[in-house]
Amino acid sequence: MAIRHPQSERTWLRATTETVRRETLRAMTECVRAFAPGRVNLIGEHTDYNGGLALPFAVRDGVTVIASASHDGRVVAEAHDLGERDSFALGDRAPASGWRAFVRGAVAELLTSEVPLPGASLEITGTLPRGSGLSSSAALAVALCLALIGIAGETPPDRVALAQICSRIENDWVGAQTGLLDQLASLFGQTDHATLIDFRSLEVRTLPLDLGEHRLVTLDSGERHSNAIGGYNQRRHECEAACRALGLRHLSEADLSAARALSAPLDRRVRHVVSENERVLATVDALERGDLVELGRLLDASHASLRDDYEVSTPAVEAAVEALRDAGALGARVIGGGFGGHVLGLMPPGAGTPEGALEVRPGPGARLLDGDGR
Ligand code: GLA
Repeated sequence: MAIRHPQSERTWLRATTETVRRETLRAMTECVRAFAPGRVNLIGEHTDYNGGLALPFAVRDGVTVIASASHDGRVVAEAHDLGERDSFALGDRAPASGWRAFVRGAVAELLTSEVPLPGASLEITGTLPRGSGLSSSAALAVALCLALIGIAGETPPDRVALAQICSRIENDWVGAQTGLLDQLASLFGQTDHATLIDFRSLEVRTLPLDLGEHRLVTLDSGERHSNAIGGYNQRRHECEAACRALGLRHLSEADLSAARALSAPLDRRVRHVVSENERVLATVDALERGDLVELGRLLDASHASLRDDYEVSTPAVEAAVEALRDAGALGARVIGGGFGGHVLGLMPPGAGTPEGALEVRPGPGARLLDGDGR
């Protein structure tokens, strides 16, 4: 016999079902764990903010954020590796520095994007060395956003939109005028694949990174770098000046012969961006043909361009590149913003590595973790 409910009972039933649905969702999202990896950029350096191409991959190390909803309108965050803490009201937009700027920026940007944050307790841990050029900053921003969106019970926006939110955190709250490379690499990572990004169209394609018996390794130059200070923002301004002088929207569209008419150092900056873009395409081609000797040559050429034309190398970086070459690297180069951090080398089968070098392999992208950490 079919059960028939009077109108008032049906309304009650609907309301109860909705309450149960919400309570279940709330219980499910009371505590979430988000992980975002760092990245190694195989090639395509300082092309992102110039509307060019890059070929990064997500690494296995990154930042984990455990978030619990607190429902008291406050955010309490702990950076475990540093033994530091921060606490602020959800609506507090006061600037902060260091890791605190990322937390405050993430909360503010998500509120601006109308994510209904309930208040949160956040625990931050990481396995990436800070200031290493392996993008610990973007990993932190991405993990924070995924965790906060998770406890708000919302579905994250598409990955490009999420990368743009994370990039605003770095630009407007941390003060580093970085592009979208690191955030997209962290969000689109795929095991054993590199991510080809076209920064003009924001199209993303993954392609197999099959190195056979060769290995990619990173080596710390021993010099910490920060994108919020120093030469990085200056390079961006130089590229903007070159764009204005050439009447272009993106420097990657520049014509090398026109660039020759620019005064130094703008002519050299243009030469790097245009040639680096070509090297990304040549790298895709070399990978598709399995030509790893050519890949090594392209890494070396990228380094020479970053050193001589873009001028983002330092004596410590040169020493680390040299150490990899001495160990037999087919190619080696500075990665990330430059001015310190790690360098990357392509080692042929059987080659040893300098002390401290670590193998890097492409891992999966940013995600919420299950209870057992997968
Ligand atoms: C840093 C920035 C990126 C990119 C690289 C250089 O990692 O965060 O946006 O500009 O430098 O390729």
